[in-house]
Amino acid sequence: MSEAEIVAIRCLRDNYAYLLHANGRTVLFDAPEAEPILQALAERGWRLDQILLTHHHDDHVGAVPELVAATGATVTGAAADAHRLPPLDRALRPGDVTDAAGLPAQVIDVPGHTIGHIAFYVPDARAAFTGDSLTAIGCGRIFEGDAPMMWASLQRLNALPAETLICSGHDYCAGNGAFALTVDPDNADLRDRLQATATAARPCAPVTLAEERATNPFLRAPALAATLGLDDAEQAFAALRAMKDNF
Ligand SMILES: [Fe+2]
Repeated sequence: MSEAEIVAIRCLRDNYAYLLHANGRTVLFDAPEAEPILQALAERGWRLDQILLTHHHDDHVGAVPELVAATGATVTGAAADAHRLPPLDRALRPGDVTDAAGLPAQVIDVPGHTIGHIAFYVPDARAAFTGDSLTAIGCGRIFEGDAPMMWASLQRLNALPAETLICSGHDYCAGNGAFALTVDPDNADLRDRLQATATAARPCAPVTLAEERATNPFLRAPALAATLGLDDAEQAFAALRAMKDNF
């Protein structure tokens, strides 16, 4: 097994797609925009073998037809969402283990932002591809599920090893960071992270789960519950999500 390489690609206005390259093979997590992805492949001389999709939103699947036409890559996504994803060559269920560039990728059910949203955890790459579930200093807006569902999804991801790189679908760091400071103003780790991002000392994302645990207000719902006048983590999460929706 060769060392896995992960490349984050900026797409559209604020999306991220990710290439994972290992064993001489390359897979893509989410397909927002063809041109920057094809360029990243060409720059490295990589051929795209497979596209893995986290959820059905257009800014995650819109470039699938163009990428399939250009590369012949196969398409993998959630069986539960097969009716609203591009045509799938492989349909997955939570708990399945699929192949990503010769590495096992565990399929984790993370509904909330959408029903049928999945994340991929690749232990050999020490990375999780989380789409719009757990994101940098935030989490996806709850469109189709409810707060208890999203909280349970975040707990599933929070159970991964601390060193796991959280590769999520957007760079909303500025807005997420500004919100996080309003609910967690005394958090030195959060201030350090935002300072490092502002001075370009290091990117806001992707970072490890350990860093998200320390700085992401939604993962910190249990710690923030008391300041919100609540004694329950799930209620605190729901309150934080509602505050962010109106921020
Ligand atoms: Fe989305």
